[in-house]
Amino acid sequence: MNDKKYSVVIAGGGSTFTPGFVLDLIKSQDKFPMRELKFYDNDAERQKKIGEAVKIIMKERAPQIKFSYTTDPREAFTDVDFVMGSIRVGKYHMRSLDEKIPLKYGVNGQETTGPGGMAYGLRSIPAILQIIDWMQEYSPNAWMINYSNTIAIVAEACRRLRPGAKVINICDMPIDDMDRMAAICGLNSWHDIDFNYYGLNHFGWWKEVRNKKTGEDLMPKLKEYVREHGYWVGGDYDKDTEPSWEATFKKVADEYKLEPETLPNNYMQYYYFPQYEVANADPNHTRTDEILEHRQKIVFGECERIVEAGTAKDNIWDISGLHSEYIVDIIHAIAFNTHEKFLANCANDGAIANMDPDSIVEVPALFGADGIQPMATGMAGRFQRGLMMEQQTCEKLVVDAYVEHSYNKMLQAFALNKTIPDASVAKKILDDMIPVNAPYWPELK
Ligand code: NAD
Ligand code: LMR
Repeated sequence: MNDKKYSVVIAGGGSTFTPGFVLDLIKSQDKFPMRELKFYDNDAERQKKIGEAVKIIMKERAPQIKFSYTTDPREAFTDVDFVMGSIRVGKYHMRSLDEKIPLKYGVNGQETTGPGGMAYGLRSIPAILQIIDWMQEYSPNAWMINYSNTIAIVAEACRRLRPGAKVINICDMPIDDMDRMAAICGLNSWHDIDFNYYGLNHFGWWKEVRNKKTGEDLMPKLKEYVREHGYWVGGDYDKDTEPSWEATFKKVADEYKLEPETLPNNYMQYYYFPQYEVANADPNHTRTDEILEHRQKIVFGECERIVEAGTAKDNIWDISGLHSEYIVDIIHAIAFNTHEKFLANCANDGAIANMDPDSIVEVPALFGADGIQPMATGMAGRFQRGLMMEQQTCEKLVVDAYVEHSYNKMLQAFALNKTIPDASVAKKILDDMIPVNAPYWPELK
């Protein structure tokens, strides 16, 4: 029995997801006991707002765990077992531009897909590599669990530029979709589901979905439901779901009909129906505005309320339930060598039989003390393989652009992407993005 107590640092301490994650960690102390929790951020003021509220939460609920927040990398990354990567380089200001610049030219404007996703990926690469370097310098035995986007591009940069680093790139979108599948089938949660899934990040398909306990094949039931309703559950399940997400989960019905052998990751909407996305977007009010008006306002408002009240009693995360349990499950699996199955973004190495070994793919993997062991998922369908080849080439070209400081590689990444109709449009979008990204991108020549 492992009786070690763990030290965790959250990089991006000022993230809107931080308080919920902290409460999940506290709730899991019997499963994943901790001795220290630290936050690291490069925006002291933003982090302080979350940090001061979390100080009160920790004092009330887990006084045995030492807590601090800092902007000093040495302090943050020394003596840690796990680094959680939750940064947003350029914050919501840059996400807003990622969304709005492409829409000006009639192109999909979205956080992690299309030109916005590639722009965001290029911003994230140097910051994530820097965090890995600090981790390796100050805590060489630590693992980094990264969910900072754009995951597919970050994972390709890690594969190429930090080979062997103890970094695992993960995403919660398939878990959200699987939780919906569980609800549709009358099960409690995604934990009750066994699955075979393959693809790239925000770009994948379920081949198999089963009841974990009984082995029952749930695909026929799900297909019948999804054809009509997508992954929209409705009722109590969806009482807090924002309008843009409602549209997203309902749109899965059309995605499914295009490829009825498998069930799609809901992000396929951006690649199958880019014109629909643009037609339904408001170029002056995008998802960023929705988050600033909703999630960010709620999170920072609640932190302020906790600090003023001097207590975290009855906080919103206690009431609304938490959504980051899977991250605790993942660090628990690594710490306790459980070899549980989760999805990971990693080098293919045969996991999808008809994709190149060096493709970054999102596939099931066993998580343990030695990191991840990707599982074989079989052959990708012809349709899926064609889509993946195009998309992963875009992702590789973004990393080429980073390494070579190449304008042309970034332009090729945009021109190749399924969401952009024409290389001249790609050029206009890129040329608008370069000056605003100057503080974060290498100079592209
Ligand atoms: P946020 O803007 O609320 O918080 C991000 C924090 O990162 C900010 O406090 C910011 O100051 C900080 N930051 C930016 N650059 C930094 C750097 N170089 N070093 C240290 N800190 C830095 O963002 P959020 O909405 O909470 O999202 C956080 C990340 O998680 C994003 O990358 C988002 O895309 C990602 N995300 C991933 C998943 C997933 O499952 N893969 C799901 C949701 C969000
Ligand atoms: C986020 O929650 O910020 C994104 O990762 C997904 C979204 O648009 O809500």
